[in-house]
Amino acid sequence: MLKVAIMGHGTVGSGVYDVFAQNAAQIAKAVGEEVEVKYVLDLRDFSKLSYADKFVTDFSVIENDPEVCVVAEVMGGVGAAYEFSKRCLKAGKSVCTSNKELVAVHGEELLALAKEHNVNYLFEASVGGGIPLIRPMMQCLAANQIEEICGILNGTTNYILSQMIHNGVAFDDALRQAQKMGYAENDPTADIEGHDACRKICILSDLAFGDKIDPDEVSCQGISGITLGDVAAASELGYVIKLIGRAKRTESGKIFAFVAPHLVPKTSPLACVEDVFNGILVTGNMVGEVMFYGQGAGKHATASAVVADMMDAIAHREKRRPVEWGDGSQKLLLPIDQLE
Ligand code: HSE
Repeated sequence: MLKVAIMGHGTVGSGVYDVFAQNAAQIAKAVGEEVEVKYVLDLRDFSKLSYADKFVTDFSVIENDPEVCVVAEVMGGVGAAYEFSKRCLKAGKSVCTSNKELVAVHGEELLALAKEHNVNYLFEASVGGGIPLIRPMMQCLAANQIEEICGILNGTTNYILSQMIHNGVAFDDALRQAQKMGYAENDPTADIEGHDACRKICILSDLAFGDKIDPDEVSCQGISGITLGDVAAASELGYVIKLIGRAKRTESGKIFAFVAPHLVPKTSPLACVEDVFNGILVTGNMVGEVMFYGQGAGKHATASAVVADMMDAIAHREKRRPVEWGDGSQKLLLPIDQLE
């Protein structure tokens, strides 16, 4: 029996446990052995849960257990999550995460550490929730030079805008609803001010264009200033308002990246991406435009991507999956005012 651990029992962490419990047979068949969640790390009181005996509050229990080969980091933030991820990798355990903040800021360092210790650091769930996006982009589109990535990368803001556009719901009420449904970050400022989408476009840009982009250097505007009047006026002109993240390679090889609300023509495929769904258009120089679409936030959708990465890490535990990332030394990012 293979043993794994989950760090963090919030929305996504509890979803990861559910996926292992509900799809145990499917997972065992795919990896060739049963998988048991041996530990769940969380400081809060979950004594009423049927699996309360799994909970630990001391990270070193996971770190020092040689039976645990793969760990899900679904704590969020860059404090303890960063520290524990490094210690897991150094202890020879693969780490799989949905933590876009950590990946956007320290992804290249954690990938290098994973490489050094011959384990995996995988982060499919960090962009697009449950949508298979990073692996298809890196593997199935590998024969292309990626020219542009453009899309709706935040489920909470897309949910809010959809409610405003179609149901006339005020911004604050729609945000409360998104929080209740488990879409929003603990501090929804990251969603509504565009920081979450910015981290995600940086991750995709880093992978597609081969250098590290610092999210703090990327122009970023959210939707907190959008009113019901704005969405009505846009609609009359044949547009919907969407929060779009975009990264584009110029002919000189430099990159533009930004996040901002856009007027999207109602005829665009991105205009049809509603509610918590994300839609990402990736343009390759050979394949042309490819669209990735699906549930971009939410407990079980995101958890399914984390568990798929854990299954992949289990399958590759004898041999690391090669994922390379630039180190920021190429300075590819261009200022927004030079946008072509
Ligand atoms: N708060 C994020 C969103 C969660 O709404 O898209 C998924 O990354």
